[in-house]
Amino acid sequence: MTAPEEPQDPALTVHLHGSGGAIKGWVVVDTLVDGLAMGGTRMTAGVTEEEVAGLARDMTEKFTLAGLRIGGAKAGIVADGSDREETFRTFGRTVKPLLHGGIHLGIDMGVTPADRAVFFEEAKYDPRYRLGAPDMPIDWRTYYEPLIDATGHGVGVAAITALEASGRTGPAHVVVQGFGAVGRAVARFLEDRGHVVVGIADVQGTISADRLPVADLVAITDQFGAIDRTRLPQGVKLSAEPDAWLDVDADILILAAQKYALTAENTHRLRAGLVVEGANLASSAAAKEKVAASGAALVPGVIANIGGAASAALAVTRVVPFDLPAEARKAWVFDWVGDRVRQNTRDLLEIAASRAGNPLPELLAARRKER
Ligand SMILES: NC(=O)c1ccc[n+]([C@@H]2O[C@H](COP(=O)([O-])OP(=O)(O)OC[C@H]3O[C@@H](n4cnc5c(N)ncnc54)[C@H](O)[C@@H]3O)[C@@H](O)[C@H]2O)c1
Repeated sequence: MTAPEEPQDPALTVHLHGSGGAIKGWVVVDTLVDGLAMGGTRMTAGVTEEEVAGLARDMTEKFTLAGLRIGGAKAGIVADGSDREETFRTFGRTVKPLLHGGIHLGIDMGVTPADRAVFFEEAKYDPRYRLGAPDMPIDWRTYYEPLIDATGHGVGVAAITALEASGRTGPAHVVVQGFGAVGRAVARFLEDRGHVVVGIADVQGTISADRLPVADLVAITDQFGAIDRTRLPQGVKLSAEPDAWLDVDADILILAAQKYALTAENTHRLRAGLVVEGANLASSAAAKEKVAASGAALVPGVIANIGGAASAALAVTRVVPFDLPAEARKAWVFDWVGDRVRQNTRDLLEIAASRAGNPLPELLAARRKER
């Protein structure tokens, strides 16, 4: 018989049709742990039930690997973002029983903190309070907003840990694909530790040089992660070819943009010996096989990019020492994320070195037993 935490099907799939208005979407609760689950809400014109279910499964894996006692969930709304106030009010009314019943829904692609405020308010949901759990002494935004770089921090820790495991010392050359919240934080993290960023890509293309000045590039990047091409530093090279970040000679490639950036079609161009996924599903299954066959190492997103999700889960499960002052609380969360990412990266690479094939199922099975 399958163990309760090894589900083949989601614990719960709710089809959303709206209450007091029409919407189309789903909430998939992949697993429940102690009656709790959480995940982000995605709103795109093309989101499907299958996509939401895949993302909910990813959340389960992240929490299992991190040792957090909460299940994985995800919500998807099929909409193009017009009339968002009405959409999120209807969404809030529709998912109200779920939010109050232990299914915490946050932000994902296409959904902003302002949208979250709308659906929380419409559902009269405040994550500070839950039946049977101690109250959070601070509000959600006060807790969560200072933790914006938690994901980038974890991705950086994964890169450094894998680099150390490979026996390499000295500055590594790094390419960062995607210069949004995650990409910028990783680039700063690695530069601060003496590594050299030689390539950065946004949706318009790739910028490269022997050494890119990260802070100067952050200063000319907008909130959507677009770098202003009219204000670039002297001496950088530019390419508008979509996958040019693959051709920059580097030791580490950080994937922090869209899903399936690495595919079976482009992986043969990979030059880095180490790939770290900052984005979810950043490489396809076939790409992962090709990376492994080439002898390069890959740290998957379910290990590396847990920072944002883990920060939220630590609060929902009330593990955070809320009595700490703001700076110390932030440091506590960053250390917690760093420790989990470091341990999982080390253990994954150890399994990978011991035998052929995908090492992740073995690590997941070990963590399931420990939880
Ligand atoms: N923010 C988080 O805490 C977090 C946590 C886990 C996973 N993720 C995932 O990581 C990815 C990055 O997150 P973010 O918050 O930094 O996003 P973001 O929207 O802030 O930035 C995305 C960046 O990727 C670039 N980009 C988009 N398409 C590209 C392409 N085809 N080629 C090159 N660059 C491209 C954009 O120009 C931008 O610089 C997303 O897929 C997100 O879902 C984010």
